[in-house]
Amino acid sequence: MTEFRERYGPIALITGASSGIGLAFAEELATRGFDLVLVARRVDRLQELTEKLERQHGTKVSICDADLSQPTAPGELHRLVAGRDIGLVISNAGFSVRGLHESVDPGELTEMLTVNCHAPLHLARLFLPALKARGADGRGGAFVMVSSIEALMGCPMSAAYSAMKALVLHLGEGLYAEAAGSGVDILTCCPGATNTEAGQRAGVDMSQLANVQQPRDLAVLTLDNLANGPTYFPNAAYKAQFDQLLAMPKRDALMAMAQAMKGV
Ligand SMILES: NC(=O)c1ccc[n+]([C@@H]2O[C@H](COP(=O)([O-])OP(=O)(O)OC[C@H]3O[C@@H](n4cnc5c(N)ncnc54)[C@H](OP(=O)(O)O)[C@@H]3O)[C@@H](O)[C@H]2O)c1
Repeated sequence: MTEFRERYGPIALITGASSGIGLAFAEELATRGFDLVLVARRVDRLQELTEKLERQHGTKVSICDADLSQPTAPGELHRLVAGRDIGLVISNAGFSVRGLHESVDPGELTEMLTVNCHAPLHLARLFLPALKARGADGRGGAFVMVSSIEALMGCPMSAAYSAMKALVLHLGEGLYAEAAGSGVDILTCCPGATNTEAGQRAGVDMSQLANVQQPRDLAVLTLDNLANGPTYFPNAAYKAQFDQLLAMPKRDALMAMAQAMKGV
């Protein structure tokens, strides 16, 4: 753990830390001795988490109230933390809207595009230079992109979301190779179904799904695999399921998935 903190610490920045996967990353990093910059809109949740982490681990936490559906938010966030010794950035904030593509609210579609794609694109561009500077002075750094298993294939009833997560996956892969030898680990994490508020919000009945992962398990596994990029699939059962689909003719795979979505 000391080695991990020395390489990627002392501070980690996490977007979408007010619930689910981002909150689990925050809790796990606090146990590993990191100080934290936590980013989200629900600052009451971030405040609660801050008090808990300070009490339990003595973590120093900075809260950033940022709405990543605003195109200027990544730049403002970067300016706000200028000069802080951040060695690990987790671009996790995101959400999905499910249903027939033509039924998706246009405003929500643009918001999803901005949070899920614009934010990681710009956060990477803004934070990578300082991470690489740490690599050059003999320490390390890491940038984690939270994509989704849905990035592996266009998904019916989730067409826009799966396309957006494919952008994140490709971004992370490209950056992984660009950062080779720089001392910066780039990892794109592709979760399967994970037990967070996101499912309820998207109208998915998680109790109908098999192999749902707990966010804490995802966070621990992902952090343990930071240096094993370019991609990481924390939910082995979901990865196996998608491997099967990808081995099928694409038309059959898409029809099988459309059929499965009817039961969710
Ligand atoms: N749960 C799954 O099954 C699953 C599977 C694959 C991938 N993922 C991905 O995992 C990531 C985390 O999702 P989760 O499951 O943990 O969902 P969650 O519990 O709903 O958390 C989403 C986080 O993103 C933040 N966020 C959303 N919109 C934002 C905005 N406009 N500005 C700033 N922050 C915003 C939320 O904070 P505020 O609302 O407080 O702003 C919240 O902290 C997402 O990228 C999601 O696509 C999830």
